[in-house]
Amino acid sequence: MARRKIIIDTDPGQDDAVAILLALSSPEELDVLGITAVAGNVPLPLTSRNARVICELAGKHETPIFAGCAAPLQRRLVTAEHVHGKTGLDGYDLPDPTLPLRDAHAVDFIIETLRTEAPGSVTLCPLGPLTNIATALTRAPDIAGRVQEIVLMGGAYFEVGNITPAAEFNIYVDPEAADIVFKSGIPITVMPLDVTHKALINPPRLEAIRAIGTPLSQAVGGWMDFYERFDVEKYGGAGGPLHDPTVIAYLLRPDLFSGKHINVEIETASDLTRGMTVADWWRVTDRKANATFVGDLNAEGFFGLLTERLARL
Ligand code: RIB
Ligand code: CA
Repeated sequence: MARRKIIIDTDPGQDDAVAILLALSSPEELDVLGITAVAGNVPLPLTSRNARVICELAGKHETPIFAGCAAPLQRRLVTAEHVHGKTGLDGYDLPDPTLPLRDAHAVDFIIETLRTEAPGSVTLCPLGPLTNIATALTRAPDIAGRVQEIVLMGGAYFEVGNITPAAEFNIYVDPEAADIVFKSGIPITVMPLDVTHKALINPPRLEAIRAIGTPLSQAVGGWMDFYERFDVEKYGGAGGPLHDPTVIAYLLRPDLFSGKHINVEIETASDLTRGMTVADWWRVTDRKANATFVGDLNAEGFFGLLTERLARL
């Protein structure tokens, strides 16, 4: 497999952290051109700090990190401290990062990179609200034709919402941004709650990560202990869903996942269902298919990959 150039757009968040670590542990397959922070789980100053903390933990001090948009395109920012804690990385304390933020704005980095790299050679991996991506597409429409693929975590259909009865958090926070992305014509693969809720880090899986025995694995263990409590209390499941790492795992092992190429549109008008991903799973309309909507994964294969890769850092 040729090395895939990626930009990770993220709102860390403990699950974002594991996704970033998975990407940084796979340099033979993934060339992380940069990490762009966006406001989401916690405000931008914290998501951009957390991205630096995570790269430092991985020992990847050269990773370019950029701060992006501090608020959604049109709406007030909604955050998720109730899930991720006040810092966004509650559960394991790490020292303040020394790794610097780059001066450029994340949106300028995304535009510049897509205009510089060969057309169709860069994959965008959004793990949070789509504000940075939509802003880049609006400011520079020419980049849409230069994106290889967007593989994002967001949305839900059969699993319904996690922040409202209708909507998943990333899409809910900035539905207008999501609408721009899903109408961009760029090839999109979606990791919705339908698949991420099948990626539960249950006790045996968490113990396997802790058994790696490195400081990094202890940090991941602490983060997971904190992060899973919300979903375990809410859904009564055995462990929290590892939402964002499914995006990176898909790039590494697409064979672990399955889905359908269907039409997905975003509710932006209704207050009741704002941010809903209206997925035409049964193709009952003649709306054009615009996304591969992933519904299932091989969970044991996913956690085996994740554990093996985290042990490399
Ligand atoms: O709904 C789950 C998503 O919202 C994940 O990306 C999590 O990190 C939060 O951003
Ligand atoms: Ca996230």
